Amino acid sequence: MIILSIETSADETAAAVTQERKRLSSLLYSQVLLYKQWGGIVPSIAKRAHEERIDQIVEGAVKRAHLGSSFDKAMEKVDVIAVTYGPGLAIALEVGIKKAKELAIKYKRRLIAVNHLAGHIYANFIQNRHGKPARLFQFPYLALLVSGGHTILAIFRNHLDYQVIGQTKDDAVGEALDKAARILGFGYPGGPIIEDLAREVNNQDKYLFPRPMARSNDLNFSYSGLKTAFFYRVRKMGEKEKLANLYYLASSFQEAAFDSLIIKLDRAIKETKINQVAVGGGVSANLYLREKIRSLMKKYQGKVLFPARDFTGDNAAMIGLVAYFKAQKGQYVKDINHLDRKPRLMIGEQKYF
Ligand code: KG4
Ligand code: ZN
Repeated sequence: MIILSIETSADETAAAVTQERKRLSSLLYSQVLLYKQWGGIVPSIAKRAHEERIDQIVEGAVKRAHLGSSFDKAMEKVDVIAVTYGPGLAIALEVGIKKAKELAIKYKRRLIAVNHLAGHIYANFIQNRHGKPARLFQFPYLALLVSGGHTILAIFRNHLDYQVIGQTKDDAVGEALDKAARILGFGYPGGPIIEDLAREVNNQDKYLFPRPMARSNDLNFSYSGLKTAFFYRVRKMGEKEKLANLYYLASSFQEAAFDSLIIKLDRAIKETKINQVAVGGGVSANLYLREKIRSLMKKYQGKVLFPARDFTGDNAAMIGLVAYFKAQKGQYVKDINHLDRKPRLMIGEQKYF
């Protein structure tokens, strides 16, 4: 089964061709440079940028999959079209959905609507053309999704059968890192900047910021208190003191943010007795976070997977993988007129239309 998938939920315009779990092509245009000066995504700019690029990205992905000499010929080999329908920015999602519907009608193909959040976790199971790596977890496993929009702990019991056991009450961890970088005077996205600054001082924890929710008896997260503590700590410093301690500030913030992930993941493993974890989302690119999670898993003799670093952030290959498993369950869009964006979709919700 060959699937053409489209992803436009936030600031990447992406398309991919996959066959079962194999990635035949994956292409994306990142709008990240457009937002450097704004500190985050601007919806109206995102919509226009998606509209300007979507045709080119879809055509490019199909071409690179080497399915045929022309776009029309290649489309004869494509069995299904998949598209992200949520969560994300409504007017950005809309662009991908419109394109997917157009293709489905023109080439008379069935559509599959994919939950973006599930995609981030399935990014762990993307293979190359030769079917490598073979890895695939047996169910159940824990999923830790850490991105710019979400911080979620879930139990994956089966394909498309997920139970959320913890989530953030306010900001997402990636969003918190982005805000911290901004407070220090850096641009967007802040996560990689904070990671680099912290590495310069060996991730030392000089300021011991509070570990949010560490003592709460649940598996939820919160980052707004940490952000506020950080903001006031930096404001109290003069410019000179701030500059002299930039690396330590970044490092201490990152430590507090990641520590609270580790505390809750630790508790989740203890409570569920599940010791396999699949991590996903933009923040899972962070090598220091990977190290911290790996050492936690050692304690439980457990196993952790991270996506290849090209697939931690938004991409369409991960959407193609979820679509493949939805196809196995016959979850095609029944009436494409009813397929609509779902900006607030949660990870456990697997609507199809
Ligand atoms: O998954 P993603 O690309 O988009 C969403 O679905 O949100 O995640 C973007 C987030 C941003 O907050 C960005 O700062 C963060 O991922 N990020 C990182 C790193 N690379 C990206 N955070 C920490 N360390 C990184 N290396
Ligand atoms: Zn994402």
